[in-house]
Amino acid sequence: QTIFRKDYLPPSYLVDTVELGFDLDPARTIVASRVTLRHNPASKSRDIVLHGEALELVQLRLNGKTLRPGQYELSGSTLTIRKAPLAVVLEIETLTAPVKNTTLSGLYVSNGNFFTQCEAEGFRRITYFPDRPDVMAKYTVMLRADKALYPVLLSNGNLIEQGELGDGRHYAKWEDPFKKPSYLFALVAARLVCQEERYTLQSGREVLLQVWVEEGNLDKTDYAMQSLKNSIRWDEQRFGLELDLDRFMIVAVGDFNMGAMENKGLNIFNTKFVLANSRVATDIDYAGIEAVVGHEYFHNWTGNRVTCRDWFQLSLKEGLTVFRDQEFSADMIGTDSGRAVTRIDQVRTLRQAQFPEDAGPMAHPVRPDSFVEINNFYTVTIYEKGAEVVRMYQTLLGRDGFRKGMDLYFERHDGQAVECDDFRAAMADANGRDLGQFERWYSQAGTPVVRAETNYDAIARTFDITLRQHCPASAGQEHKLPFHIPVAVGLLGADGRDLALSTDAKDRQGQATVVLELTGEEQTFRFHDIAERPTPSILRDFSAPVVLEYDYTDAELLHLFSHDSDPVNRWEAGQRLAMERLLKLTTAVATGKPLALDATFIAAQRALLVDETLDPAFRELALILPSETIIAEQMEVVEPQAIHSARQFMRRTLAAALKPELLAQYHANQTPGAYSPDALSAGKRALKNLALSYLLIAPQEAELALARQQFAEAGNMTDRAAALVALIHSGAEVGEHLHSFYQDFEHEALVVDKWFAMQAAAPGTDVAAVRKLMEHPAFTLKNPNRARSLIFNFTNGNPSQFHAADGSAYEFWAEHVIKLDALNPQVAARLARSMDRWRRYTPALQAHMQRALERVAAHARLSNDVLEVVSKALAGA
Ligand code: ARG
Ligand code: ZN
Repeated sequence: QTIFRKDYLPPSYLVDTVELGFDLDPARTIVASRVTLRHNPASKSRDIVLHGEALELVQLRLNGKTLRPGQYELSGSTLTIRKAPLAVVLEIETLTAPVKNTTLSGLYVSNGNFFTQCEAEGFRRITYFPDRPDVMAKYTVMLRADKALYPVLLSNGNLIEQGELGDGRHYAKWEDPFKKPSYLFALVAARLVCQEERYTLQSGREVLLQVWVEEGNLDKTDYAMQSLKNSIRWDEQRFGLELDLDRFMIVAVGDFNMGAMENKGLNIFNTKFVLANSRVATDIDYAGIEAVVGHEYFHNWTGNRVTCRDWFQLSLKEGLTVFRDQEFSADMIGTDSGRAVTRIDQVRTLRQAQFPEDAGPMAHPVRPDSFVEINNFYTVTIYEKGAEVVRMYQTLLGRDGFRKGMDLYFERHDGQAVECDDFRAAMADANGRDLGQFERWYSQAGTPVVRAETNYDAIARTFDITLRQHCPASAGQEHKLPFHIPVAVGLLGADGRDLALSTDAKDRQGQATVVLELTGEEQTFRFHDIAERPTPSILRDFSAPVVLEYDYTDAELLHLFSHDSDPVNRWEAGQRLAMERLLKLTTAVATGKPLALDATFIAAQRALLVDETLDPAFRELALILPSETIIAEQMEVVEPQAIHSARQFMRRTLAAALKPELLAQYHANQTPGAYSPDALSAGKRALKNLALSYLLIAPQEAELALARQQFAEAGNMTDRAAALVALIHSGAEVGEHLHSFYQDFEHEALVVDKWFAMQAAAPGTDVAAVRKLMEHPAFTLKNPNRARSLIFNFTNGNPSQFHAADGSAYEFWAEHVIKLDALNPQVAARLARSMDRWRRYTPALQAHMQRALERVAAHARLSNDVLEVVSKALAGA
């Protein structure tokens, strides 16, 4: 059943207060709710509609009187009271069984402790309630539980009372002073310990910060705490936004569907984004923790104080908050080149995951018009493309203009549930700009293609750039209207330096980079006083989420690759050089032609590798070849094995040609001494480990010894894991290494995840090997991190094996989508999406994939989650 944005109706009743009482018991938790409602003058209906799922209704009273069946209507998902009075107090008692809740939505048990996850629609699995984000109320929560088993009782806001109940039970009463939608409700009842700290805000007010974890993990909370303090400071400084509570808690839980959740004052996190020390966490894990701690903290203003009117507006909070966490991470590094490295990572994510989504059967606009299951719309489009859309405001309005827009947004909407349009209006009004056309970024799906052509007139000394845009059709959107696209441009002279630009826009004379605003289908922009034909650097800093087409010559790309002052485009030039060759090599593999790599390309790679004026982190990124997935996206008909062989050939050839330089970089970028996750050290490790991985392609004994030594002596997980991965990929015998790694870390769940993940993604691991790994005692489908580590890293991270010619891995996929769906529909639906791009493969593979999809679709009792994904995949695009 599809839900449409156009069908939005305001709630018939508004809620002022909610009092919740929990008698917590894993098998039988009693939830008593007392809700005061009043009729919403904006609604014609006098029916109270409450949502409820997987609940047993024990008792229902309206204004003191018990309602009998017949005085209300109960469907599978709603409880309706018709023709209600204007002012209503509802008292509802329900029963749930948290220990049986494998969906990890609502109230559930993880490792013997109670946790909740209510976004998007989990609150309705806790009690009957108008579970929609435009119903905002004040909550008071009373928790009762066995004291020995659950010594810690937490909920949103402030702790106002606690004590003993006799019979070994105790209680805690929490009050959240802020109105909130039900999706921000949370409770934790658990045996946990915390790292805590009093922290002084810029205003001088003191707050209590806590990071709660299981007892054995108290040695892994420092970085999360530090990241939280940095986040608080950053939001004060960059946006003038202060923490509005006296207490802010982060709680880590091992069973969690997503990354983390911004519940008011009580953020609940996947352990993956909290726990770190140098022994168990990699540089990438540290960066993830900083970003996610920031993200959830920043939601306190962008999401919680101002929330979404309905779930179609999800990107209002997610796109904006991702943008904020991206800016936070960039500012934490502090240098221009560090900032650029974070930007390049963002571009890679878009190309790896968002562009394919935008071109596939699940394509949707940043503000969707319809959905079947909202949990399927926590996507890279809503999050990452949404962040790009927010970034474009800043590119168009400048940092100060963007800040003015943010200020006006809060001035207008604090305490409200609003729409994406309200954010756009605040940006426009605060800057006196017409952003009407910009709306199309919210309403039209698909990745726009911008085609550039240039013309140099030596006599007039002008350089013209003509930009033409079009956007491929997507489901339900045949023809699209032109977008408002900021295209940042610089021009390089023959010496590699930026020209000072003189354009028709008089206010931007003399700049190295100008932002051209493409609003029509085709526009020409003229640059004056250009003494010689320049090399254009177009879409600097990836100023818009588009595909840029320009017929660069190799010479131009090499020029940009060695000189562009814009690091993103400098990196981009390298990617274009590589991609061109990878596509040719792939065709050569497929048609049995001989393979070769030109000396020019090798020389360019060499020059970059040894360029000491560049950050190691940048060099590492510039040397990573486009992924197999990104190569596949460029092809008419995808042949995964050919892509894999072509890319391997390029890697092998580069490794052989650059061996002395790689070895030198390996030694030059060691990070001796105490581990530190700072960007410079992490960049050195990244470059060193990239060098190692190259050296281990067709290795001699000396290289193997190097990797084995690093594996044995590494003082941190980054180096240890990198050495093991390099060894696995080298094809050498690694049974012993895998065994000892497992032995060392078998009690560290997040490291065991890595152990499964690195095997799942290795090109030597076929589906039979994955099935074998599933028999390992540490494997379970019930824990999302574990399921993802093995299964998703195989289906999404090992394309040449997943797309085995006999279709056996697709059968494996179908089997596990079905198995997972019975436990956890959200996780199952994510796995289901591995098949999104099935129509792009060879006819033989397509036939196998179609059969697997049909097998899932034909399964009785599928969740809405999986049904939506597979039926859209079978239907089109
Ligand atoms: N709002 C959370 C975050 O980004 C994501 C929670 C989504 N959960 C879900 N089950 N759909 O930051
Ligand atoms: Zn978020």
